[in-house]
Amino acid sequence: MKIIVTENKIQGGAKAFEIFENEIKNGAKVLGLATGSTPETLYQNFTNSDLNCSNLISINLDEYVGLTPDNPQSYHYFMRKHLFDKKPFKKSYVPDGMTKDVAATCKEYDQIIKDNPIDVQLLGIGRNGHIAFNEPGTPFDIGTHEVKLTENTIKANSRFFDNEDEVPKSAICMGNANIMQAKKVVLMAFGEKKAQAIKEMIEGPVTEQVPASILQKHPDVTIIVDKAAAQELD
Ligand code: F6R
Repeated sequence: MKIIVTENKIQGGAKAFEIFENEIKNGAKVLGLATGSTPETLYQNFTNSDLNCSNLISINLDEYVGLTPDNPQSYHYFMRKHLFDKKPFKKSYVPDGMTKDVAATCKEYDQIIKDNPIDVQLLGIGRNGHIAFNEPGTPFDIGTHEVKLTENTIKANSRFFDNEDEVPKSAICMGNANIMQAKKVVLMAFGEKKAQAIKEMIEGPVTEQVPASILQKHPDVTIIVDKAAAQELD
C-alpha cells in the first residue's frame, strides 16, 4: 500500500486528480466511482480541468433501492450534480435503484463489471471500515448484492428526508470481490473521524470485521489521507 499524507482535503483532491489524470493519459478507460463527501474535492478538480472524459466509462459503487434517479438523495443525482453534468462520460453505470428484480440487477451489474474491467477504483471509507455498503461481517468473496440497511443507518439518514419512512431500507452495492478485481485502487479519507478506520485498514489484521482491510491483499493501492485521518498511524 502506498500512503500519501496531505495537509487537507483540498490538497488530497488535487493529489487524487493527478493520479487519475496520469492513469487516463496512460490508457485507463474504465473508472470505478464513489459518492459521499470524500470525493467532492477530486470531482471539483475533474470539472475544473480540461480533461476529456468523453471516451471513458464509469461504474459507480452503489445506489439506494427505491429512489428514482431524479431524487436528490439518490446517487444518480449526486453523480450528475458533482461530475457528469459538467464532465460527461461516454457511458456511466449506476445501479438501477428502481428495478423490480434486485437479484437480476445485481447479476447484470456483475456482468457490466466483467465486460468493462475497472482500471482505477475510487473508494471512501466508513468510520467502521466499510467500503461501498459492505459493512463489517460482509464476506470478502461477495459480488454485487443487496444490502439491508441497519436501523442505525436508517435513523442517521432520516435527517435528509421528510420522515423516517421515506429513508430507503436497502441498497444495491458492488461487493468486496468486485472491488478487489480493479487493477488499481485509490482510497481517500479526510478528518479525524476516519483515523481509527485508517489505522485498522492499514495496520490491523485482514478481517471481514474491517472490510477495507482486504485491500492489504491488493497489489496496487494508493491511500490519500489528510494529517487528521493519518494521526493514528504508527
Ligand atoms: C459511497 C460509498 C461509501 C462512502 C463512505 C464514506 O459511494 O460507497 O462507502 O465512501 O461511507 O462516506 P463519506 O465520504 O461521506 O465520509
